Amino acid sequence: MLASVTVRAPAKVNLALGVGALRPDGYHGLATVFHAVGLYDDLVATPLPEGSGLQLVVEGEGAGEVPLDGTNLAARAVAALKPHGASTDVSLTIRKRIPVSGGMAGGSADAAAALVAVDALFELGLGRDHLLEIAATLGSDVPFALHGGTAIGSDTGTRLTTALVRGTYHWVFVLAQEGLSTPLVYRELDRLRAAEGAVAEPSVPDDLMAALRAGDAVALGRSLRNDLQRPAVVLRPHLAQVLSVGHEYGALGGVVSGSGPTCAFLARDDTHAVDLAVAFTASGVCRTVKRAVGPVPGARAVDQRAED
Ligand code: C5P
Repeated sequence: MLASVTVRAPAKVNLALGVGALRPDGYHGLATVFHAVGLYDDLVATPLPEGSGLQLVVEGEGAGEVPLDGTNLAARAVAALKPHGASTDVSLTIRKRIPVSGGMAGGSADAAAALVAVDALFELGLGRDHLLEIAATLGSDVPFALHGGTAIGSDTGTRLTTALVRGTYHWVFVLAQEGLSTPLVYRELDRLRAAEGAVAEPSVPDDLMAALRAGDAVALGRSLRNDLQRPAVVLRPHLAQVLSVGHEYGALGGVVSGSGPTCAFLARDDTHAVDLAVAFTASGVCRTVKRAVGPVPGARAVDQRAED
């Protein structure tokens, strides 16, 4: 057995997020394009003496808002590996950089990191496909946090197909002070749609896929879209102002990330991303701005230590 494993897992932004009608199981069918970006949570897993149970420590930005009990997605990931031979006597330390409840799948990144770390720590040898299956039982965004890169997500987001992408994209993320609850945003979408008749089956936009294949950032900026943007803006009217500031400052495109409230803006290149970030900070519409490139790989071990 190893003495410790450190795993790094990325945040995501949905380049397109088409949401279908509410299903009887309480979920919505999706047609989405996930894109992993270089904003990471790190998780360190170490084994503990038998009978210790799970010890969970969360550090970094927003750590105080993360639950430390069995509802924590990383804790649920450890429990899900028990039937596969993992010990639950393990310590997990999570260093958060992905905004909590920010629409960037930070909790899912931690769950994916825990799956990879515990699999390695106890030498379970589960393999990628098996881990992806277990990930899908934990949450809609967990398989993608393992997969990384850019991928089309269908069903509830758990069925993934790797997308053909050329180039690297430079993003600026405008963070909100307070998170948004994902179920609340979906409920608001259903409420807004109630008066609008039948909901069309969502599909992945052709213009967006063509932009990605061509590595055309300008075309990509124009084709970003998210059905959850409307309800997120209803719940947080301030987001409309953030989106219009991005437009004013020459972002190639701007969109609410996932269920929000983080907003993602596409820049032409690294220099433009720095300029945009500075402009956002100076505008006073937000407190925290982060830059990241995408696509980046999914959750992977970055350090492993053997026992002395
Ligand atoms: O799968 P996850 O636990 O991340 O989903 C959180 C909540 O978001 C679900 O309970 C559901 O209310 C909503 N959701 C949805 N349709 C999806 C994904 C999530 O309605 N495809």
